[in-house]
Amino acid sequence: MTAFQPRVFSGVQPTGNLHLGNYLGAVSRWVPLQDQMETIFCVVDLHAITASFPEQGELQSATREVTAAYMAAGIDPKKSIIFNQSQVRAHAELAWIFNCVARMGWLSRMTQFKEKAGKNRENASVGLFAYPNLMAADILAYRATHVPVGDDQKQHLELTRDIAQKFNNDFADRIKELGVGVPNPTPSPELPEELYFPITEPMITGPATRIMSLRDGTKKMSKSDPSDLSRINLTDDADSIAKKIRKAKTDPDALPSEIKGLEGRPEADNLVGIYAALAGHTKEEVLKDFGGEQFSAFKPALADLAVAKLAPLTKEMRRLTSDPAEIDRILKDGAEKAAAIADPILADVRKIIGFLDVA
Ligand code: TYM
Repeated sequence: MTAFQPRVFSGVQPTGNLHLGNYLGAVSRWVPLQDQMETIFCVVDLHAITASFPEQGELQSATREVTAAYMAAGIDPKKSIIFNQSQVRAHAELAWIFNCVARMGWLSRMTQFKEKAGKNRENASVGLFAYPNLMAADILAYRATHVPVGDDQKQHLELTRDIAQKFNNDFADRIKELGVGVPNPTPSPELPEELYFPITEPMITGPATRIMSLRDGTKKMSKSDPSDLSRINLTDDADSIAKKIRKAKTDPDALPSEIKGLEGRPEADNLVGIYAALAGHTKEEVLKDFGGEQFSAFKPALADLAVAKLAPLTKEMRRLTSDPAEIDRILKDGAEKAAAIADPILADVRKIIGFLDVA
């Protein structure tokens, strides 16, 4: 190979409902990439057991639901590979190897682990601690070059780059000897001339990289917030969407006409960002239209837009989930295609490390 093949990898955990943050920050942004490069979208069910094991049957229905959401949002199984992580053995195998590449100190700095483990860190699973290594394995099992995600995944992607860098350096001679490397596209003193793993580019762009809670503009919209009013779920009907936006926390001032007027106004900033992402506009454009308006005028406009954009998606998700056999067929086909890419990469990695391959 003379260069890394441009390849996108991203994923969502099948834990609970998908919300507007997942849609605007990630899934909706994947859709146009399908026409630009090879795209692989995964439902990361191995990650979904790191906090606790879901009840019997829950993982299956949540996995099918996330798959349906991907497709309803416009991910086309004819253009992209769609599969669930546990079906491709390479993820767990490479994650183990990365457990031996990553350093305790690197993982100890992960803010998401600290948040998720909370005060009771001693009782968190080892899987939760090693979670970012599995994420690096997801990406690098395909030598993926681009990863579109929301802002909360930034630190995990930096760790993925660190793992790739350390592996490339530690095994530089072996990679060269075996002739499996690719010339480093961006030569630097920190890296050898030939790389096995690409130094992945995070794609964290647009007005919706961090959608905040509707109840508190300083907290991220999340599946785990106890208040359902804090988020818009992709399964919400029109009435609940409108109600949640009506009840969204705001301040008493009118909307500013310039971006800098949103400083120090997290709730206003969030709602303008949501409007912009749903409309496909910039925040500046939204403020051009709504600057000077009160929230009493802006909120109904936002609710109408959200319903218009999300109702067809919800309907399509419902249609797709009513045929689980078809979803399973798509996932099976995707898993076969994914394994066909990842298996030879894992075979190289085993050779690079030096395991005795007896087969
Ligand atoms: P997860 O399942 O928490 O979230 C899926 C995607 O949604 C984005 N996101 C948000 N974006 C904007 N505003 C929000 N409030 C918001 N909440 C979530 C996330 O950034 C993410 O892009 N570790 C990942 C899943 C994963 C992965 C990977 C992603 C596993 N392996 C490999 C990319 C590549 C996660 O838990 O995402």
